[in-house]
Amino acid sequence: MKVAVSRKEHFNAAHRLFNPAWSDEKNFQVFDKCSYPNYHGHNYELIVTVTGEPDPDTGYVMDMKVLSGIIKKHVLDIFDHKNLNLDTAYFKNTNPTAENIALVIWRILRPHIESQLELKIKLYETERNFVEYPAH
Ligand code: NI
Repeated sequence: MKVAVSRKEHFNAAHRLFNPAWSDEKNFQVFDKCSYPNYHGHNYELIVTVTGEPDPDTGYVMDMKVLSGIIKKHVLDIFDHKNLNLDTAYFKNTNPTAENIALVIWRILRPHIESQLELKIKLYETERNFVEYPAH
């Protein structure tokens, strides 16, 4: 009887993909234009899905206003209009790929969602490229 409920949010952020252990040439081979040193931006679409049994009193799996507030405070206020590499603590030593951004967002949000509820992150980096965590 589990139901999945989702909240869609949006943030803009800049990043640069590179591995500091590699030469500029190797970084360009692997990450192409995403490795340009002066960064580039994306319009990220974030879908946060919470799955569980609807509460018998409210009929809610989770109050969407509460979920929206948690995402705003802990993700959007930290990432929106920021340089992910330089302005956030999360990507000092982690390449800010969509995969890693989704993992970071999951880890940020997980303590704020009741433990009996499942949490899934879907992150669109472009209209055509998106990642999901957990994978199943
Ligand atoms: Ni990029």
